[in-house]
Amino acid sequence: RAVPTEPSARPDVTSRLDLAQRPRRNRKCEWTRKLVRENTLTVSDLVWPVFVMDGKATRTPVGSMPGVERLTVDEAVREAERAAKLGIPAIALFPYTDPSLRTVDGREALNHDNLVCRTLRAIKDAVPEIGLITDVALDPYTSHGHDGLLDAEGRILNDETVSVLIEQALVQAEAGADVIAPSDMMDGRVGAIRTALDASGHVEAQILAYSAKYASAFYGPFRDAVGSSGCLKGDKRTYQMDPANGIEALREAALDIEEGADMLMVKPGLPYLDIVYRLKETFGLPTFAYQVSGEYAMIEAAARNGWIDGEKAMMESLLAFKRAGADGVLTYFAPRVAEKLAREA
Ligand code: PBG
Repeated sequence: RAVPTEPSARPDVTSRLDLAQRPRRNRKCEWTRKLVRENTLTVSDLVWPVFVMDGKATRTPVGSMPGVERLTVDEAVREAERAAKLGIPAIALFPYTDPSLRTVDGREALNHDNLVCRTLRAIKDAVPEIGLITDVALDPYTSHGHDGLLDAEGRILNDETVSVLIEQALVQAEAGADVIAPSDMMDGRVGAIRTALDASGHVEAQILAYSAKYASAFYGPFRDAVGSSGCLKGDKRTYQMDPANGIEALREAALDIEEGADMLMVKPGLPYLDIVYRLKETFGLPTFAYQVSGEYAMIEAAARNGWIDGEKAMMESLLAFKRAGADGVLTYFAPRVAEKLAREA
């Protein structure tokens, strides 16, 4: 009969390494991990992007973003109340514009009674304590899905677009937007918008510049959500940044700061954490990252397939933004994270 062998894991002092530093000591149990933790995610770090649509008391799911819905204005007000109770500091609004209102020039963006303006007024009225951020760009309003005006050859016109964006920003500020977030990537728009806001009495309206916004494949589900994916002709590479470039993001941010940006944004998020880090290190301005629709969809899809632990991946991804130096994150997970943090508190 064979003698059963002893487990080989028996401590063997002779093989002990002579280490002055054993980083594992600080990780040995929960209290010490808590004590040495460098970064934390709190509800104050969250901005919730919300899709709004026309109608009453209705929510429609966004197919490519499981768990995300488009909300009618009344439902958006209800969600803003919930967000405020949870302690989420701000909401970013994105409209699903009725296709009949989409035109070549995106003029619905300038309608003082458009969906975004009505939502702004309704939320300001009911939940004045929550911050309201609006996107400045024409894509939810154009029949071609681009962020700006086109010339006869289909090129995106810069200066002509900026003159419309100024109007769009003013319309939003007048309806109650606290933070104007130009996401169009036209040259000179931050300065032009700042000048116009100041000249019309909106000195307090902040500008959150999408300084480093990349021409990214991760925006796909968003374009479904705002209904612009079907109509988008071509791509946005003549105005959004090349994913290959990092130094250029510093230049974009420097220009936006010179022109009056109060806060910077990097978009997408996780694939561009190096940019978040560089902008924060270089300029020190409040710097935000946008965990965009495709990032959300990837986590949700994998989680719903049982391939990853969705809740853990959600928390880890958001903490990573903090570690990279972000002051906050725009994320579709915001209410879910806020609820989780509240449960754990
Ligand atoms: C519009 C805009 C986009 C997003 C935010 N604002 C799409 C785009 O530039 O095509 C994407 C957000 C997301 O994917 O969650 N200028």
